Amino acid sequence: MMATAVTNTATCKNFIGGNWTDSRATKFLERRNPANTDELVAVVPLSPREDVREAVAAARAAFPAWRDTPAPERGKILFRAVRIMDERKDELARTLTREEGKSLPDALGEVQRGINILEFMAGEARRLGGENYLSELRKNFAYSMKVPLGVVGAITPWNFPFCIPLWKIAPALVAGNTCVLKPAELTPLCALRIAEIFTQAGLPAGALNVVFGAGEEVGDELVQSPHVRAISFTGSTEIGCRIYASGAQRMQKIQCEMGGKNPVVILADADLALAMQSVLFGAFASTGQRCTATSRVIIERSVADKFASMLVERAGAFKVGDGLESGVQMGPSVDETQMNSVLKYIEIGKTEGALILGGHRLTGGAFDKGYFIAPTIFDHVPARARIAQEEIFGPVLSIIRVNDFDEALEAANSCRYGLASSIYTNDASRIFEFIDRIETGITHVNSPTVGGEAHVPFGGIKDTGVGPREVGRTALDFYTELKTVYIDYTGRKRESSLY
Ligand code: UN1
Repeated sequence: MMATAVTNTATCKNFIGGNWTDSRATKFLERRNPANTDELVAVVPLSPREDVREAVAAARAAFPAWRDTPAPERGKILFRAVRIMDERKDELARTLTREEGKSLPDALGEVQRGINILEFMAGEARRLGGENYLSELRKNFAYSMKVPLGVVGAITPWNFPFCIPLWKIAPALVAGNTCVLKPAELTPLCALRIAEIFTQAGLPAGALNVVFGAGEEVGDELVQSPHVRAISFTGSTEIGCRIYASGAQRMQKIQCEMGGKNPVVILADADLALAMQSVLFGAFASTGQRCTATSRVIIERSVADKFASMLVERAGAFKVGDGLESGVQMGPSVDETQMNSVLKYIEIGKTEGALILGGHRLTGGAFDKGYFIAPTIFDHVPARARIAQEEIFGPVLSIIRVNDFDEALEAANSCRYGLASSIYTNDASRIFEFIDRIETGITHVNSPTVGGEAHVPFGGIKDTGVGPREVGRTALDFYTELKTVYIDYTGRKRESSLY
């Protein structure tokens, strides 16, 4: 079925049972381009619970046929979606920049990553088998198989509006589940495009449904639904904890990917220019609105002055502006609330460390139409300061000076979050010791804290994550149950005792 294209400023329709459906909403959100608030990007319905119930019913109805579709056939639909996305890459990236604000190169990177993930998962459709086991008994064998769960819910954030929905939907669909997606209300257009493209690729009606709205209504209804067998959520630790607790009451499977406060440890022998490039990219590209963003530099005191001045010089020259303009390296905060929250942290930082760059909203000319904040760096920040402990989700970096490697590790680990980390050094022993002792789900050596590949597991520990890892083959573990099968072909009553 061909989906009708949705024009940019139309009120977004929900996508339920293969139809673009008017929401029953009475409240709507006007989404404006965060780089230029004169531009209306979309009108988003804040759908009521009934819309979600309808979507869950559509997903339930579609489940048996989708489950019984051979997995390689499911994979082929994903491959067709890959081809369509490849052709529409530029347009998808522009849409992403207009609604989220990140620079066009960042948006293109995200679109490509989404395509890569889809491509990888499409291939997994031919590898979905389980394991064979040799039996203790003659003429017996056992095997395991992966079976889908049923209807699953995906609740996704605004900062990666293309890639994160895809990394949840793709494994869910390949495994034979049907989905209800609740995208962030600030970034509806990428979700619309995804539904459009999957439909065009031949996904049957009801296999993927999209409902727009707020977490308190749409998200909560999904989480409370007795028919939704699993929820995969990316967002704040506070909401993730609530979802985890609530899911436990219905034995729902829960996967949460939440906050980060990612350190880059720089030892005295490191290539400082290389480390500086990576910190610059990790802290300020994507406006720091990335759960893997670099937000702490933990550096040996002997090289800290030199590093700080190199960094200030380069970050001070960072080009901030409308992400669609060429040469722009950093876009705006996603909205006014987010900008104000970052500005509040900057004020807190002024009492906790030494402000050495930025520290304010950018104003004047085109800046007045958006939510721009200058790249901001605090030096001499104590490891326990609030700006070194809490996730800011903005272009704000703290430099923490330490005496040695052990102190650096202690500072790096003295944080509730455990997503990504990085170390810059050429000392092999220190590298391996760091890998052993750092408390993060992902760690990098001489490379930035951000990013990840389409076939490599992604996720964090401590207050960052719960549930099996997303992305890569492990993503399928969350969306399947294992069924164990014993087969006896003796045709006789069992002689031996088998416990
Ligand atoms: C990345 O930085 O590689 O919400 C992706 C987030 C993460 C995704 C980050 N879950 O920022």
